[in-house]
Amino acid sequence: MNSGYEQHLDWVKQRREKLKGELTAMFPEPTNLSLEIGCGHGHWLVAFAENHPEKKCLGVDLIGDRVERAEKKARRAEQGDARFLRGEAFEVLDLMPEHVRLDEVFILFPDPWPKKRHWKNRLFSKAFLVELAKRCESGVRCHFRTDHDPYFEWAEEVIEEQDIWVRDREISWPFEQQTVFQNRADSYQSLIVVKK
Ligand SMILES: C[S@@+](CC[C@H](N)C(=O)[O-])C[C@H]1O[C@@H](n2cnc3c(N)ncnc32)[C@H](O)[C@@H]1O
Repeated sequence: MNSGYEQHLDWVKQRREKLKGELTAMFPEPTNLSLEIGCGHGHWLVAFAENHPEKKCLGVDLIGDRVERAEKKARRAEQGDARFLRGEAFEVLDLMPEHVRLDEVFILFPDPWPKKRHWKNRLFSKAFLVELAKRCESGVRCHFRTDHDPYFEWAEEVIEEQDIWVRDREISWPFEQQTVFQNRADSYQSLIVVKK
């Protein structure tokens, strides 16, 4: 019988194969995407896609029922190409077909992981920016917004510590639509980085 660890490895392998299959089926041809990571219930991306019917949009989130609700919203929308997928950000970036490129990226109110011992779980990290860059041409923008001041400072430090992305303070936020977490926030801060 398999050890627990072997079973875990097997489960990871199956999950990755399934995700890869879903991504390949979703994007069989060369595609440029507007990607939202941690899309929650899809409020922001469905509205963004409705307002930009020319753009292909993908929202990813770890939690299946959020993705299902987002898909329902997309079906009810009058126009726009917003698709949703259950998946983890790093795995999605890793397993996308090579011909999928990112035109722009949005990370809105990511989990702040306030306790120091959990900071390693924060999505916006040097490792993340490296992975993201592999899918982006020069000039692609990554938009980050949080209501958690320490996470914002962390993001600023992450940007300082790498040289693939550069912060651009002149670019204005391209599209406003309340998200579930933005609705709950007293205030928030945003930043935009551009791939060099
Ligand atoms: C605080 S919620 C914000 C949701 C939405 N953006 C909003 O503003 O209402 C963060 C979301 O990110 C998702 N998430 C966290 N880590 C993720 C990861 N590594 N990959 C994909 N989604 C992730 C969570 O499941 C959750 O739905």
